[in-house]
Amino acid sequence: GRLVVLVSGSGTNLQALLDASADPSYGATIVAVGADRDGIEGLARAERAGVPTFVEKLSSYGSRADWDTALAARIAVHKPDLVVAAGFMKILGEPTLSAYPVLNTHPALLPSFPGAHGVRDALAHGVKVTGCTVMLADAGVDTGPIVAQEAVRVFDGDDEHLLHERIKTVERGLLVDTVGRMAREGWTIAGRTVRLGSGGEQK
Ligand code: GRF
Repeated sequence: GRLVVLVSGSGTNLQALLDASADPSYGATIVAVGADRDGIEGLARAERAGVPTFVEKLSSYGSRADWDTALAARIAVHKPDLVVAAGFMKILGEPTLSAYPVLNTHPALLPSFPGAHGVRDALAHGVKVTGCTVMLADAGVDTGPIVAQEAVRVFDGDDEHLLHERIKTVERGLLVDTVGRMAREGWTIAGRTVRLGSGGEQK
């Protein structure tokens, strides 16, 4: 299956997918990496792996709708079966969501602690267990159907960075396994069957 991965930061989730997809038996290849900003490690990781990249900045457009349309057009060039938002810090609009199944990953056990500060919010709440979630993206913020989750313990000395790094270690494995299973076996979730390869997605 053909993956387009969207990033906004360090790209360690992307790197895990790049490493896994180097094995032909994984069942998916990353055909392009997109970002909403320049100069991030995620783009450098793609370039080092010889994967085409593109950047679409919201600030380049007069409206959110124009950016949504432009981003969907850049993705379409690569004809993906699946889009993976891996640390992509923008809400994807209808042009992308209606064209492809989109997987997103979040560093908390949704529906707890959605949004851009899930690790900080979990820590502040004093939870003893948090974790990560892989879900199908919808038009909301971290509200799509949950596909996979894994728990991560919180330790007394944890600060946001330490906890997030511990979560990310688990998260990249969860994302790699979920994408690989979707690619090889297909996945039915919330009435949608995502199967990569020939037809992309069957309803
Ligand atoms: C991941 O924990 C992701 O869930 C969150 O931000 C982090 C991105 O990490 N949205 P990276 O860019 O994949 O290293």
